[in-house]
Amino acid sequence: MNDNLHQLSCFGCGARISGAEAQPDFRCAQCGDLFEVEYAGWSQRHGQNRPNPGALKWLWRERRCSSEALDQSGVWRFRELLPILDNFGNAVTLREGNTPLYPLKRAARALGVDQLFAKHQGMNPTGSFKDTGMTAALSVARERGFEWVACASTGNTSAAMAAYAARAGLRSLVLIPEGKIAWGKLSQAMDYGAFTCQLKADFDGCVRVLTQIVKESPIYLLNSVNPYRLEGQKTPAFEIAEAFDWTVPDHLIVPGGNLANSSALGKGFRELHELGLVARLPRISVIQAEGANPLARSFATSNGEKMEPVEAHTRATAIRIGNPASWRKAARVVRDTGGWCLDVSEAEIAIAKAELGAEGLGCEPASAVTLAGLKKLRADGKVASGETVVLVLTGHTLKDADYTIGFHRGTLLNPKETIGRTAEIEGLRRDAVAVDATSAAVLAALKDSAR
Ligand code: F0G
Repeated sequence: MNDNLHQLSCFGCGARISGAEAQPDFRCAQCGDLFEVEYAGWSQRHGQNRPNPGALKWLWRERRCSSEALDQSGVWRFRELLPILDNFGNAVTLREGNTPLYPLKRAARALGVDQLFAKHQGMNPTGSFKDTGMTAALSVARERGFEWVACASTGNTSAAMAAYAARAGLRSLVLIPEGKIAWGKLSQAMDYGAFTCQLKADFDGCVRVLTQIVKESPIYLLNSVNPYRLEGQKTPAFEIAEAFDWTVPDHLIVPGGNLANSSALGKGFRELHELGLVARLPRISVIQAEGANPLARSFATSNGEKMEPVEAHTRATAIRIGNPASWRKAARVVRDTGGWCLDVSEAEIAIAKAELGAEGLGCEPASAVTLAGLKKLRADGKVASGETVVLVLTGHTLKDADYTIGFHRGTLLNPKETIGRTAEIEGLRRDAVAVDATSAAVLAALKDSAR
């Protein structure tokens, strides 16, 4: 069976090539921009390649009861909308996707928003949203006969790549910025058997080195410039639409680092709309950390038309990126859907993360920018009380336990960062206390804490 119906279209100059013609760095040979996967016939109203919406909705739901590995994946369950393989039998899956959509009742009440949800992508097999993209792109690598795959990463991409490569029997090479990724993520790359190099460089420096490497050796690049990653990462849009019975929420809020995820989710909703599966698009807003905010700056100065790279600093190491590869794609998504791009401070991120933890969910710091961003949007009157809002939580809370412990012990933030927010922070902190090993001492400590 030939399941493959796609071509690659350049985001910059519109040049079209077949998947096999892509260069090792996935840049357009004409203009240097990135490619998007495109499916012939989808934009036409009629035609033999255009899927039938009603039949698809039924089929995708039926697959949730199937015992087939491919059907149990929240990515490949939607395989009619990502026909990127010659044979779906080549797909490498860890049963990613199908992640929960949790109501956020306390935050909704505090913000005066009727309907607030968290789509928790940290509930994926390796603990982040990267699994949805990795199953797609690594399957392409396997189908094309590569033995080695590689990525530069702030940690989560490398964890996901190493796991999927191990499942497929491929070797993996990881480049990470030394000392700047969370231990949980580094431990995963080691455990899944990646060859891991810590470079004295930031993420953007790691990308530069890897781009050179893939041009010189037959190693398949799995960074998000690889357009197949985005095909997997668009599927949470399908899950969200399905969860709302194919109406879409009013507003989706996504963290922004290298800016592929916001691009992918925007593509997912756009395709659902083009194919007649949903009637409208949600607003999509992107939130960055204040110290790693090139897109937020770009929107403030040129409505996302021009972007100057920055030297990035934030404790939310996953999004410590100063020169995001997919910024043009993400800017288009924000503009086309009527969303916003904002930045939030280190204290705002830490507070939002603790609030999500206190709802029994938790997430990694980079994910918490979504709640911090929603607070700003709400304060600015950009989100109305009657709107349905979904925050995309991208990583699991256990990825970066040091950050969480630092917050609760009161050692994370410096005094300058906490100005005007100490009461709020103290109200959220839950440090562990050292107590004598007697019931009387524990009960006395409990009584003390209630004062
Ligand atoms: N949240 C988490 C937990 C991430 O790991 C990342 C990116 C993002 C948000 C931002 O997503 O880059 O698509 O805008 N992590 C990458 C990595 C860069 O190497 O793991 P983006």
